[in-house]
Amino acid sequence: MSRRTGGRRGGRRGAVARTSFTAVALSAGLLLTGCSSGGGSGEPELTVDNAFMPQPVSDMAAGFLTVRNDGSGADKLTSVTSAISDDVTIHESKNQKMREVAEFDIPADGVLDLERGGNHVMFMKLKQRPKQGEKVSVELRFEKSDPITVELPVKEPTYNPAKH
Ligand code: CU
Repeated sequence: MSRRTGGRRGGRRGAVARTSFTAVALSAGLLLTGCSSGGGSGEPELTVDNAFMPQPVSDMAAGFLTVRNDGSGADKLTSVTSAISDDVTIHESKNQKMREVAEFDIPADGVLDLERGGNHVMFMKLKQRPKQGEKVSVELRFEKSDPITVELPVKEPTYNPAKH
């Protein structure tokens, strides 16, 4: 009897503490969800930098860049087009293998990094092979934001900017 009462009391106290903690965690979670879904409140504000293409050594090429989102709404990179290829896709790399993905998330107030060894833009069946010093124009398309045209400077085949 006394054991049961004690257990109930302890249990109830624990439940109360846990409930208020959950409430805090939940409201924080809702806030984050509200931001990242965009839900009509926040708009993405995208800018692109660190763009480059290593000079291709075959009839395929990769492109790298950073999409920065200074807005309070998330967005997605959904496709890329370019005049140098009719077959441009977005790839992720995992365990030394790459595979096409349908989209990349661009979190609210966050960054999407396409960098060597990781995510990249993939250009297949190049119509011409751009040379170091040239520029390749690509158009990035997003779920919400207007398309952004970016000039990728062509770098040496092994180019890899230092991270900071
Ligand atoms: Cu690839």
